[in-house]
Amino acid sequence: MKLRSPLALVLSLVALTTVWPAPTPAADNGEVVFNQNCQLCHTPERVRAKHLTKEEWQQVMTKMIGLGCPIRSSKKNQELVLDYLVRTQGPAGAAVAQAQPGAKGAVRVYVVDEESQDVWVLDAATREVIGTAKVGALPHGITPSPDGKSLYVTNMGSNDVTIIDTATLKTMSMRGAGLNPHESAVSSDGRWLYVSNPSSNTVTVHDMTTHSPVAVIPVGRFPHGVELSPDGKRLYVANRDAGDVSVIDTAARQVVTTIPTAPDSHDLAVSPDGKMLYVVSTDADLISFVETAQGRVVKSVKVGRAPYGVVLSPDGAVLWVADTDSQDVEALNGLTGEVIATIPVTGGPRDVALSPDGKQLWTANAEANTVSIIDTTQRKIIATIPVGKHPIHVLVRAR
Ligand code: HEC
Repeated sequence: MKLRSPLALVLSLVALTTVWPAPTPAADNGEVVFNQNCQLCHTPERVRAKHLTKEEWQQVMTKMIGLGCPIRSSKKNQELVLDYLVRTQGPAGAAVAQAQPGAKGAVRVYVVDEESQDVWVLDAATREVIGTAKVGALPHGITPSPDGKSLYVTNMGSNDVTIIDTATLKTMSMRGAGLNPHESAVSSDGRWLYVSNPSSNTVTVHDMTTHSPVAVIPVGRFPHGVELSPDGKRLYVANRDAGDVSVIDTAARQVVTTIPTAPDSHDLAVSPDGKMLYVVSTDADLISFVETAQGRVVKSVKVGRAPYGVVLSPDGAVLWVADTDSQDVEALNGLTGEVIATIPVTGGPRDVALSPDGKQLWTANAEANTVSIIDTTQRKIIATIPVGKHPIHVLVRAR
């Protein structure tokens, strides 16, 4: 197709959309419509540089229609894009407000169910189930890509990673992990996915632009939890059978130190400043506080029975732990390890995740096939919702 003038371009685009009308978009398809219409004449960056009110975006839209934007032909699409722009590029500060669990559609909850082999997707505000995605056999860990567009689910039974598109909940399988891939962590630029493979005693590194493995790093015995340091330079791997943590230099892709912790070191969390590492020893019922600079345990804190998931408050002050066998969630002082609160949670809480604002703690209760929401200020359960079979991981994320 040969075009002579911008007007011809616009006209032919209008013609195109007339001949092949876009399928009627679903309620949250604003981004799709935006991509189809608002990049025809200029880069999306021109639009992204702005933070405007709804009225101001309406004015821009009217102007673009005047300039020949084909969105002219669909009132519905105009509304979708307007909603999308206000949602993602409202006035300064609006982005933060959007991340509150109070705003419908702003925050999503993803629950990995080991036995029903799926991921349930809930709206954090309405607590409604938005959809489910089938994944591989015996799914376990779940990691969001930094741009929020994908989720990576490690499947222990099918030895692969399911990639879920968060917009459509469509899935694809990525091969190349080791045996029984358990957990993963992703670099802040989204390029590298690190997967722990307990039965191969390795971490595999996957290039997410090509979805292929590029390195295999031998670590300690039976590696499970993996976490990156905030600067991305170190990858911490908790080795259950070795009772230690392998510290990987991500640039060199090799283990540079091994920190002895306690038997059955299973899961871990890193403080926002990167100075402290919290290592959960499930069978030993304790959490090792590790100073990363010295690479040694500075405190050992006894918790409830069979602790699994841990999460830190956004400011690093409070460490939340799910104790599966004693059926509770504990809040510890992130510095001293002192127990601040113990909240009973029935049904074998296995994992915990915080809302972006830190106000809600979601728990995955494996035996009860439910998730519970704890108000972190009142420190009590405010809701419990049925999900799939044997929920073992939960992730809460702003859209
Ligand atoms: C037909 C071509 C065309 C399409 C399609 C188009 N624009 Fe534009 N856009 C322009 C032109 C031309 C300008 C520069 C206008 C000017 O300099 O006054 C512009 C400028 C802008 C600006 C900067 C405005 C300002 O006042 O600084 C924004 C924001 C913008 N467009 C948003 C959008 C959005 C949102 C859409 C999709 C609904 C869109 N554009 C679709 C042609 C287009």
